[in-house]
Amino acid sequence: MRYGYFDDPAREYVIERPDTPLPWFNYLGSEGYFGLISNTAGGYSFYKDARLRRITRYRYNNVPFDFGGRYIYVRDNDSQEFWSPSWQPVRTPVDDYTCRHGMGYTIIGSSRAGLRTETRYFVPPGETMEIWDVTVTNQRDTAADVSLFGSVEFALWDAQDDMTNFQRNFNTGEVEVEGSTIYHKTEYRERRDHFAYFACSADTAGFDTQREAFLGAYRGWDSPRAVAEGRATNSVAHGWSPVGVHQVDAVLAAGETRRIVFLLGYAENPRDAKFDPPGSTTINKRRVRPVIDRYLNGGAVDEAFAETGRRWDELLGLFHVDTPDHDTNRMVNIWNAYQNMVTFNLSRSASFFESGVGRGLGFRDSTQDLLGFVHMAPERARERVLDLAATQLSDGGAYHQYQPLTKRGNDAVGSNFNDDPLWLVLAVVAYVRETGDFGILDEMVVYENTPGTERPLLDHLERSLNFTLDRLGPHQLPLIGRADWNDCLNLNCFSEESGESFQTTTSQDGKVAESVMIAGLFCAAAAEMVDLAAQLDRTDLTEKYGGERAAMLARIESPAGWDGEWFIRAYDHFGNKIGSADCEEGKIFIESQGWSIIGGAGLDNGKAERALASVAEHLATDHGIVVNQPAYTSYHLELGEISTYPPGYKENASIFCHSNPWIMVAETLVGNGDRAFDYYKRICPAAREDIGEVHRAEPYIYAQTIAGKDAPTHGEAKNSWLTGTAAWNYVAITQAILGIRPAFNGLDIRPVLPKAWDGYTASRKLRGVTFDITVKRAGTGNSVALVVDGTPVDGSVAPMPEDGRDQVTIVATVS
Ligand code: BGC
Ligand code: NOJ
Repeated sequence: MRYGYFDDPAREYVIERPDTPLPWFNYLGSEGYFGLISNTAGGYSFYKDARLRRITRYRYNNVPFDFGGRYIYVRDNDSQEFWSPSWQPVRTPVDDYTCRHGMGYTIIGSSRAGLRTETRYFVPPGETMEIWDVTVTNQRDTAADVSLFGSVEFALWDAQDDMTNFQRNFNTGEVEVEGSTIYHKTEYRERRDHFAYFACSADTAGFDTQREAFLGAYRGWDSPRAVAEGRATNSVAHGWSPVGVHQVDAVLAAGETRRIVFLLGYAENPRDAKFDPPGSTTINKRRVRPVIDRYLNGGAVDEAFAETGRRWDELLGLFHVDTPDHDTNRMVNIWNAYQNMVTFNLSRSASFFESGVGRGLGFRDSTQDLLGFVHMAPERARERVLDLAATQLSDGGAYHQYQPLTKRGNDAVGSNFNDDPLWLVLAVVAYVRETGDFGILDEMVVYENTPGTERPLLDHLERSLNFTLDRLGPHQLPLIGRADWNDCLNLNCFSEESGESFQTTTSQDGKVAESVMIAGLFCAAAAEMVDLAAQLDRTDLTEKYGGERAAMLARIESPAGWDGEWFIRAYDHFGNKIGSADCEEGKIFIESQGWSIIGGAGLDNGKAERALASVAEHLATDHGIVVNQPAYTSYHLELGEISTYPPGYKENASIFCHSNPWIMVAETLVGNGDRAFDYYKRICPAAREDIGEVHRAEPYIYAQTIAGKDAPTHGEAKNSWLTGTAAWNYVAITQAILGIRPAFNGLDIRPVLPKAWDGYTASRKLRGVTFDITVKRAGTGNSVALVVDGTPVDGSVAPMPEDGRDQVTIVATVS
């Protein structure tokens, strides 16, 4: 069942009923000011850091869920009835409800009693504010007497403290009200130099800033007393819970539309100019007022909205495909690219499932996210790579996370997730392929943020690879450390205390447990290093890492890594196999199949095909490929968190969507475009739109997991939005299946398509040059003949033009 539809020309997903199975979210903002917004206007806003600069309050895990938001109330003063045009929080039935989630904006509209209200929410480029652009239209043939209320509930900045420290927080709240602007200034009197504001373009009939005065004691946001009575109380908050509410009264003639603009913003003042007059406790508004005034005028709002659209035109215009499959087109051209940018901006910090108070930026997460956005924001990718590398330890290891505000490694989580450094190699080489910026390799970057330790970035990559080579176990396979990509395969933890963190408790010395997945990842990273080194004429590096890779591949293919029908996953602390037919549960795992093959194992001896056949037989379901089978049914001290999840959830045999594209890529490496694309479609959100009642999460973006076949809710998606799934599916479809990849010297075209496709067209901008690509199928194989600007070329790479042209035409015939 569907809850809406894709409007591709508008680049929108249009939700047609408010009671979606879960709140379906979008994001506002892409620079410093960010917000989450659900299809019923739920969500919250923050400046840069979802924990430390929370602007509005949200109630996670609330009942009913998705509570706290950008709520508008309409009161029909003739009938004295009121409702929310976004349905929540009042939940009175509304007609013609639509929510249009677009690129960085959301429009929610509905009608009731002949009054149509529509609100467009977005963040103007370059500003630290959001706009709620509201129109109310009287569709009756008589005049309508209406009161409209716009409301926010302010968070007291530190979201963690805001949820816990009530003995203080109920005393600190402060606001100022001037004309139609409410300023929230809790703690501004002391050490904060920032404040929030909520402004309204209309002359207001009243306001409220004390929550209880607006709602009434023992009443909720679903029935504020001030709205029910049609009269805001002009309350001024002292302590308790500051809110911002504006009441606008209007008598609308038949057919008349009234536009009201609300601004919710964040502003900072220099420390020595905080107060006006100096010495008072009144906010100095001289800097912020011109900004507010500019946007209270509709023309500036429309111009800013158009500018947001132009920016997305530019970003999404960099890569466009036209394939025989609609779902592929809308994901690649619109939603998957969009999700890549949002995920890059926010990492894993703030979603319906990530409370914004948790983690910093993950080392492996950010390096993988880069693969999905590097073509859209190469300068930001460069900065991110250098920041990450500067947190690297001198032995090549990596802090598992770093804090974006301080750019320092997070000591509480520490290091020794032994896959981490290898992803840096993949990210840097992807960046250089995209940009041709070999100069980045010479950038002097410190280790562990320590001045005096500067070494060229290339040295960081070598140490990343050496980190693996310096830590080999009894089978000469890489030691796993606290975990590899699978954060929950904790082979050195042995925790018996409930509540202990599996990732930070390490009870074994870590000298035995090994990971075949890291072995495969090492081979992939070493291959990237070899390619890069060849460009730099560094034969010492080509030889060294070429040799180490060959040796590692041999181990993966030997009985140490090959179980007979598939690749073994790991060895535990006792040297026992994990992911082997010999095991009772967890006989086969997805990660070592994907990464062994991507690393190059089994490609010329049938093992890759055999392993992929085993994936199809044991792990693939109609809803995607599960992590492992059989699922673990009880807790295993020696396996860690993976065995804590009930079968079918998360790392214990769910469809962990991030890992599925590795199998898609592996399938293309053995030439099986049909199976690669089939797997792509099984988890493709757009292709799951029709089973919305099963999938339940947003059909326009990927979720982290889909419940596996062992779960009673098989097919249900969870943890949507911020996941490495976005980048990897983008890589799988664009680079492995459609076969368009940036190469050091041009654009490489090596499609591995489904047999039924007769081809596709695409346009891809690389380093300022637009490549127009036509792929035609002339036979059922995967060999490619390339004609570039009318001339046949050898191999699969269309070279960068040397004569300054910015347009290249490629015709690739696949047979
Ligand atoms: C999650 C992982 C996450 C880890 C962090 C696990 O429960 O499944 O995705 O990385 O916790 O502690
Ligand atoms: C989510 C984490 O952010 C990521 O780092 C990890 O690889 C996956 N979960 C799998 O455990």
